[in-house]
Amino acid sequence: MKKILILNGPNLNLLGKREPEIYGSEGFESYFESMNSKFSDLSLEYFQSNHEGAIIDKLHECGFDELYQGIVLNAGAYTHTSIAIGDAVAGISTPVVEVHISNVFARAAYRHHSYISVNAVGVIVGLGLKGYELAINFFEKQ
Ligand code: DQA
Repeated sequence: MKKILILNGPNLNLLGKREPEIYGSEGFESYFESMNSKFSDLSLEYFQSNHEGAIIDKLHECGFDELYQGIVLNAGAYTHTSIAIGDAVAGISTPVVEVHISNVFARAAYRHHSYISVNAVGVIVGLGLKGYELAINFFEKQ
């Protein structure tokens, strides 16, 4: 069974409670359950951390494992600041799709740059939680 890792960065554990006008009112756990039912032919794994190093460790752990078809990465604010996460994405073999729930280009200028995009196979921005589903769908069809 193909495996896909969904990797969420800082503050995304607060989805549902955090700025719902930007990020919506659904928590990620219930959304992840609905993804599991929808993609019963895939083995979906979810990992969230508020710590930069833990995100990098997870990328290293899954990034050379051929069982993983892809990684769906929302690195939160580290997207805009972390050369280290960008380097990890560049260094691994498993393809990464970068997802952002909000349209970062319609927000403050400091959210317009990503250290990840240059090494991602694609980027999905501003489509809410649906972006994760679209990214999983992309890997499913590979
Ligand atoms: C985010 C956008 C980032 O700018 C922000 O720091 C987040 C969430 C998004 O999913 O829209 O934490 O990655």
